[in-house]
Amino acid sequence: MNPERPYRVPQGHVEGEPRINAPAETIGTSKLELAQGDITQQETEAIGNAANSRLAGGGGVDGAIHRAGGPSIMQELRAKYPQGCPTGQAVITGGGRLKARYVLHAVGPVYSGKPKDAELLASAYRSCLTLCSQHGIRTVAFPAISTGVYRYPVEEAAPIAIRAVADYLKTHPEITLVRFVLFDPATYQAYRHALATASHRV
Ligand code: APR
Repeated sequence: MNPERPYRVPQGHVEGEPRINAPAETIGTSKLELAQGDITQQETEAIGNAANSRLAGGGGVDGAIHRAGGPSIMQELRAKYPQGCPTGQAVITGGGRLKARYVLHAVGPVYSGKPKDAELLASAYRSCLTLCSQHGIRTVAFPAISTGVYRYPVEEAAPIAIRAVADYLKTHPEITLVRFVLFDPATYQAYRHALATASHRV
């Protein structure tokens, strides 16, 4: 880092303001970028939620999204998906009082240390992106699914998440922006490190 130009942590995009030093990468015509902040404040068309398979609400980012979005999100979940959602999949609702028009409720794996964890985590992101393509959603923000209550080590989860999104964007130019919104500095740094490595580019 240049000491005369210290890195400024982006707090999420404010419409009309230039983004300063936001780590980002162009994939085809799409953009993949990182921000540190609160996903409930994002103005992307959709935001991702780290839900449980009962879609029953919880703490962490799930609790924050339901609090900020209001009761209509849970009402819609109960009405449309009474059977819940399998691990590695996602369902869509409206965004209630959120700035985002939609919420993608993704169910990541509870970390077990087995190889299937990585496949289920990648699948959760892919499932969200497929919903975006189906619903004409061009811009989406994701939290670090599974890295909280579900205990997925963020150093392992970050490259899997970035790889899954980058691979999808390579063949889906209809999605123009994917932003990972990381809540705490350690998670943000792990994602920065993962984006800086080459594994998702091949
Ligand atoms: N914005 C962005 N990220 C957030 C926010 C927020 N407002 N609040 C928490 N996070 C981050 C956490 O710091 C963590 O890095 O989201 C990441 C995922 O953590 P969890 O919310 O605990 O999600 P997960 O590990 O997938 O566990 C899911 O937790 O709340 C329950 O109902 C949920 O049972 C499910 C489980």
